[in-house]
Amino acid sequence: MTNSEIIKFLTSTTVNAGFVDKLKIKYRPVICPFDDLMAYAKDTKSVFDVGCGSGQFCALVANFTGVNTIKGIEINERLVNNANQVNQRFSGTKNIKFAVFDGNTIPDDIVEYDLIYMIDVYHHIPQSVQKPFMKQLFDKMKPGARLMFKDIDAGSPLVICNKLHDLVFAKEIGKEISFKAAKSLLTEVGFKIVEEYKKTVFVYPHYFILAVK
Ligand SMILES: C[S@@+](CC[C@H](N)C(=O)[O-])C[C@H]1O[C@@H](n2cnc3c(N)ncnc32)[C@H](O)[C@@H]1O
Repeated sequence: MTNSEIIKFLTSTTVNAGFVDKLKIKYRPVICPFDDLMAYAKDTKSVFDVGCGSGQFCALVANFTGVNTIKGIEINERLVNNANQVNQRFSGTKNIKFAVFDGNTIPDDIVEYDLIYMIDVYHHIPQSVQKPFMKQLFDKMKPGARLMFKDIDAGSPLVICNKLHDLVFAKEIGKEISFKAAKSLLTEVGFKIVEEYKKTVFVYPHYFILAVK
């Protein structure tokens, strides 16, 4: 599917949320390549989204792929409420659920999932717990499961644009790491990297790392 189909689908979503949340739900694919990310879910049965925000990526997976079992976790209860609304339309057809988590303890049922996504979440995790978080994720995933790790490249001068973005929309300064450091991190905690690439969309220097346990 194309990005314009994705945006058409998300703009048709009705959700009782604030202005900024609505803006992110409907237009986040303009800056974040959800189409590229979704491609990895094509032949997968179950998807787990760590830091799922308002659940719009889970809704895209539910709508545009054959994935049947989807779970999203999020530290912000307001966004979990949004996610439940955004995914309401799949309640009869997909096994889809959302949960609030404390940002530290990843739920044990992640072991049941084949493909884990972390989309622009790593740079929101406090620096002191970033690496232990990834080690915990590795330990809790089932052998053979895949992680799609997508974040913003601190090795690019354009990282400043993401920092300004986060300052405006999340009221915090991101803890981005470079593409190179991200690959080292994933390898150090035990993952095997099977695919990696970078893609700049407007002023956002994205990197994508597909890793296997
Ligand atoms: C830039 S948003 C991305 C949301 C979603 N993954 C997407 O791509 O639309 C970052 C998300 O990470 C969540 N987050 C922040 N700190 C976190 C933490 N310590 N652990 C997990 N998620 C966290 C935020 O609440 C926010 O929803």
